[in-house]
Amino acid sequence: MSNETNTIRIPMPDDWHLHLRDGDVLPVTVNHAASRCRRAIVMPNLKPPIRTVEEAASYRSRIREVCKFEHFQPLMTLYLTDNTSPADIQAAKDSDFVFAVKLYPAGATTNSEDGLTSVKKAESTLARMEELDFPLLVHAESTSPDIDVFDREKAFIDGDLSWICNRFKKLRIVFEHVSSKDGVDFVESQGKRMGATVTPHHLLLTRNDLLVGGLKPHHYCLPVVKTEEDRTALLNACLKHDNVFAGTDSAPHPRSRKESHSCAAGIYTAPFFPELYAMAFERFFSNSGRDLKDLETFLRDFLCLRGERFYGLPLNDKQGIDTGIWLELQKVKTKNPESYPFGADELVPLFAGKDLDYKAEIKMADI
Ligand code: DOR
Ligand code: ZN
Repeated sequence: MSNETNTIRIPMPDDWHLHLRDGDVLPVTVNHAASRCRRAIVMPNLKPPIRTVEEAASYRSRIREVCKFEHFQPLMTLYLTDNTSPADIQAAKDSDFVFAVKLYPAGATTNSEDGLTSVKKAESTLARMEELDFPLLVHAESTSPDIDVFDREKAFIDGDLSWICNRFKKLRIVFEHVSSKDGVDFVESQGKRMGATVTPHHLLLTRNDLLVGGLKPHHYCLPVVKTEEDRTALLNACLKHDNVFAGTDSAPHPRSRKESHSCAAGIYTAPFFPELYAMAFERFFSNSGRDLKDLETFLRDFLCLRGERFYGLPLNDKQGIDTGIWLELQKVKTKNPESYPFGADELVPLFAGKDLDYKAEIKMADI
């Protein structure tokens, strides 16, 4: 970041974990995401879920149809069920638009009812994924009712995830929305075959922000935000590891489903996610005595280079010159909207009506 201008310039970022939903809200979610990213891994937890390449192709067309931005590339995923076959994996590998398979333990989170009831049921499918070098994305939370909600990541690591990692030593895995120090330690123990996404909300919030002074439904997501020690472990992991990258898990729900006695899990950040990561890391750099001159280089790496390296996709160049599109983040307080129209309802973003520390602007070269 240049001290004179207070401007961070990076290629248009990518988002390696995004929920867009479907139907009448799709134009809203797609165009919000595309206003801040060039590529996004699109989650398959629709109702019914995206289980086959054909379903992914049709969902991708619906996304592209409503998108007003030429640069945006939705990267599709399949939802792993007890019935996903090795042939489904082969078809995904043979397509040029499905990039991974998502494992939801059945009942772990929003629209996970069709998820895996036991990892052993997916043994032959996981074997084919390993053979074809096709990445597995994991929602790493145990669903055992007797496990404390704050310990569910650790319980899943100790059980199913360790089983998968030991049985399939070469399978490439992304530990999605890692939320705890235990999660970070496990990712570190797996070397380069394991990547991890980190959300802006897990970097900015702790459980105090969820629970103190009254329940805050718009701070509720799964995995649930945890302690200050966990948050600091996540920030440090982002700085230390090349295989830890940005994935927002931006997850839209109508206001009526959030502000309800059965509050839906999910935090909406897609329209301003680079600003959030910049805020989180600028504060962390300052508080930990790091040089702010290194912030721009770090953000470029974290938001624009590491995920594509993990997925083996074309790299964003350093300045966004090859792609002709980049993002400028200015250190200027900007008021976040209170809400967005969302079908017949409203969509309340994280930090609604509050000031963000940064203002972002897309820049395009005349090419
Ligand atoms: O908070 C979450 N919301 N966590 C998830 O894993 C799913 C997501 C959603 O789809 O709403
Ligand atoms: Zn998600």
